[in-house]
Amino acid sequence: MSDIANSLAASIRAIHDYPKPGIIFRDITTLLGNAKAFRQAVDELVRPYQSLSVDQVAGIEARGFILGGAMAHQLSSGFVPIRKKGKLPHQTVRMAYSLEYGTDEMEMHVDAVKPGDKVILCDDLIATGGTAEGAVKLLRQLGADVVSACFVIDLPELGGRRKLEALGVEVRTLVAFEGH
Ligand code: PRP
Ligand code: MG
Repeated sequence: MSDIANSLAASIRAIHDYPKPGIIFRDITTLLGNAKAFRQAVDELVRPYQSLSVDQVAGIEARGFILGGAMAHQLSSGFVPIRKKGKLPHQTVRMAYSLEYGTDEMEMHVDAVKPGDKVILCDDLIATGGTAEGAVKLLRQLGADVVSACFVIDLPELGGRRKLEALGVEVRTLVAFEGH
């Protein structure tokens, strides 16, 4: 990994056996609380999109809101929240997505994006890609052009990148952790 990737990786706390034995939880609160690392992560996330005239950054609840909001501000774009079901007040579109065990549903407001809007999807981490895949489908259902999806952390062994690329979505990640 590059120097920046190594320094970002070092700012992310590993919590062993959380939420269950054998799992290493990658905790980005230590990155967010480190002024230099937070600035660097957002700068790196937005860098490839600066000349693109992005209309909206769509962030996935919950941790995608923090990074996506900062990206949208830096890109002077709008921000669209993709929320867990039942949280949004206006009319929504809903999409089921797969989790490690079972499925859940996510929602967006029907008027959150316009057909043809250039949208960047953002979340903190991609693992199996089930969450991001659901978000891409939801955005496309409203006619958005999902130009790219970006994540601070990739867990490559879980195959999320391939899942999104199979949908024709470019994937950008800053830090990869082998083992999970
Ligand atoms: C985590 C993470 C991603 C998702 C990745 O969120 O923040 O959103 O899992 O997993 P996947 O690629 O296998 O779908 P989580 O569902 O724990 O919710 P949270 O962000 O609200 O804590
Ligand atoms: Mg999440």
